[in-house]
Amino acid sequence: MPLVSTRQLLDEAAKGGYGVGAFNVNDMEQIQAIMEAAKETNSPVIIQASRGARAFAQDNYLFHLILAANELYPEIPIAMHLDHGNSFETCVSAIKLGYSSVMMDGSLKEDGKTPASFEENVAITKKVVDYAHERGVAVEGEIGVLGGIEDGHGAGGSGLDHVTDPDQAVEFAEKTGVDSLAIAIGTSHGAYKFTKKPDGSVLKMDLLIAIHKRLPKTHLVMHGSSSVPKDLQDIINQYGGKLKETWGVPVEEIQLGIKNGVRKINVDTDNRLAITGAIRKVFAESPEKFDPRDYMKPARAAMQKVVAQRMVQFGQAGHAGDYKAISIADMAKGYKDGSLSTRPLVAAK
Ligand code: G3H
Ligand code: 13P
Ligand code: ZN
Repeated sequence: MPLVSTRQLLDEAAKGGYGVGAFNVNDMEQIQAIMEAAKETNSPVIIQASRGARAFAQDNYLFHLILAANELYPEIPIAMHLDHGNSFETCVSAIKLGYSSVMMDGSLKEDGKTPASFEENVAITKKVVDYAHERGVAVEGEIGVLGGIEDGHGAGGSGLDHVTDPDQAVEFAEKTGVDSLAIAIGTSHGAYKFTKKPDGSVLKMDLLIAIHKRLPKTHLVMHGSSSVPKDLQDIINQYGGKLKETWGVPVEEIQLGIKNGVRKINVDTDNRLAITGAIRKVFAESPEKFDPRDYMKPARAAMQKVVAQRMVQFGQAGHAGDYKAISIADMAKGYKDGSLSTRPLVAAK
């Protein structure tokens, strides 16, 4: 089947009342881990690449690996998504390459660090939506700013510095026509999200629920949604790592989000932890080994285990065969004739 738009994946997830994990990739083994997890659990998948990933792997390598996955697993709907696009040009380059979905993160300026004004965010996001929809590609926007910093991307600081204002979320969704909306509810990118198990004072699930009430038809996206499990932290530290004590987003909170309009859940850090722990273990236990396959194989298996677990927890497991992929060309027709219109989105106050 062709690459699927995240719009179709998320529309289907909304119908089925489940969420879809969006897993970041930088290399072949991570793509293989996700695809094997999808096969094992019969799940549709969103694979996403950041600007850092595209630079690390080089665009063509990475994109052709996705095409290989598509060829090898014809029964699995796959969306290829740009994570945190920082400019119109970055989004256009992904669309030209064949990505079926892009995120325009206009919550930050093009430097990927400085918070942008609401007006700037609306303008750049709307420009990307117009370009992308004409070509059948779905767009995720972001309103509010996440905490933390990854590979130079992010405003830094706490996840509570710029949480989403529900009125602005409504205005943003109406003015831009995005297919999905990332909101800031206290989470951060990376491993250091919370200093203890988060409660409502730092992880604002009430805010998420309020936004969903105002935008019941908008697919909400949770970024910074790794759970940073203690067992994965422990493996790293047991084998020479130096992670400080930390907490992520508990899976039960994500499940509450899924009951309240969250359809896409971004996970990267948990997989990074699983891979690093597995590699450290081989290095520590078998220091004589030097064939990369000796540590990449367990690393890939460790990531597959985490991804499969999340697919079950988010509810996407079992749904790979529910629908046939709509081609991007047909999605373009749907945007044009209004059948995929994202408006009106707003519930009466
Ligand atoms: O946005 C955060 C993702 O974890 C990607 O991180 O920019 O280091 O590739 P990255
Ligand atoms: P984590 O760092 O929590 O895995 O978040 C990843 C993310 O939001 C990618 O966009
Ligand atoms: Zn993110």
